[in-house]
Amino acid sequence: MGLEKIEKAFSQKKGEFYTRGWIKRKRDMKGKLFFLLRDETGEVQCVADLETLDKKISGECLKATIESSIYLKGELYADERAPGGVELRISSIEIVGLAEDFPIQKDFSTEYLLDVRHLWVRSSKMRDAFKVRATVFDAFREFMKEQDCTEVQGPMFVGGMVEGSMTLFKVPYFDKTVFLTQSSQFYLEVMMYSLGNVYTIAPSFRAEKSKTTRHLTEFWHAEVELPWVGLKEIVDFEEAMVKHIVKTTVEKREKELKALGRNVEELAPTIEKKFQRMRYDEVLEIAKKKFPHLKSGADFGEKEEREITRKMDTPLIVTHYPASIKPFYHRPDPENPAYVLCNDVLAPEGYGEIIGSGERTWKEEELTSRMKEQSLDLKPYKWYIDLRKYGSVPHAGFGLGLDRLTSWIAKTGHIRDVIPFPRTMNRYYP
Ligand code: 4AD
Ligand code: MG
Repeated sequence: MGLEKIEKAFSQKKGEFYTRGWIKRKRDMKGKLFFLLRDETGEVQCVADLETLDKKISGECLKATIESSIYLKGELYADERAPGGVELRISSIEIVGLAEDFPIQKDFSTEYLLDVRHLWVRSSKMRDAFKVRATVFDAFREFMKEQDCTEVQGPMFVGGMVEGSMTLFKVPYFDKTVFLTQSSQFYLEVMMYSLGNVYTIAPSFRAEKSKTTRHLTEFWHAEVELPWVGLKEIVDFEEAMVKHIVKTTVEKREKELKALGRNVEELAPTIEKKFQRMRYDEVLEIAKKKFPHLKSGADFGEKEEREITRKMDTPLIVTHYPASIKPFYHRPDPENPAYVLCNDVLAPEGYGEIIGSGERTWKEEELTSRMKEQSLDLKPYKWYIDLRKYGSVPHAGFGLGLDRLTSWIAKTGHIRDVIPFPRTMNRYYP
């Protein structure tokens, strides 16, 4: 029986109780041993009275080390000083796996904790973050189901880039070289012609050299593609989706969010208020106040987005970026082709971009001229161009960075605090 059930069992009747878990802390006080036992649901204080227990049992209690796995039997008592107000008085113990000296006891430096990530994931901080993460993934899928979206999968080995050649990972592929995908978008565009609304949850890979608190080289990407819609519809869809995910996570994970230092009241505006929408040009004017040297047509980097969103309490939707700073697949605005019909969603409180999105170029001529403008070799994209030859339709889609979204919701200082095994420029162990 898990620890979460202890309080319930206690409120029903006193009596003998069995449980199992790992020893998180152990201390010796006046002939008594106190264990803090943990499992996936929480922690409970257990106490062994060495003077009254049978010698063999007290011997086992003394032997059990931090992170040993144990079975315990005992009686439950109310104790105000114990976490949860309940204490288990041990009557018997069985050590299942005796732990060697646990290496995480003194050194808590960031680098060290990343080196022992395979053990650090047991900490309550990590456990809470992973529970929040899992709920974010669930809530995303739940929303997609409500919108009649079908889940599909694209390949991870691909022949071309989506988001610029600078961040491509090359992989030997027999006697050839291929790339790790930067985005499943083009494959979703393909699948849309078969299944209508489609989505995927998959890793995307970027050879990011920037050492920021929001970049991973391997991140989890939720991507969506919808036929027959344009910029306005995709933006409305994203707003409803972000609201749903945040609301669900707050409802289901309030305890974990609080423990991580997120006051859930801060997320209420995102759930209740309409998100602000601004064109790139308006946002640029705001950004220029802080960064006067920003030129017209400049892209916003981490620094700028942090500043723009620092004091906001809901996400900001930025539309109509200059065509020159966005990939070829974005559709030029028919009213002014110097801009594209795209949008980013920036999370508030300085977290910055969580969604990259827009209407797609769906006419062949428009697409190939955008590609030529960017000096792209059309050959590897023949199949993608083909989509514009056989019954093309207007369509739009987006990519949501699930790690970034989770990091904002949980208010963690770094994106790697919400993923079990972060991959960054210098980190691929464990
Ligand atoms: O803005 P991006 O590059 O857009 C695309 O990849 C589109 N092809 C998606 C689509 O339309 N289907 O990436 C989308 C999102 C970003 O807004 C960000 O949240 C996340 O993916 N992202 C990263 N997250 C963590 N580490 C990185 N290095 C990331 N790069 C992008
Ligand atoms: Mg982007």
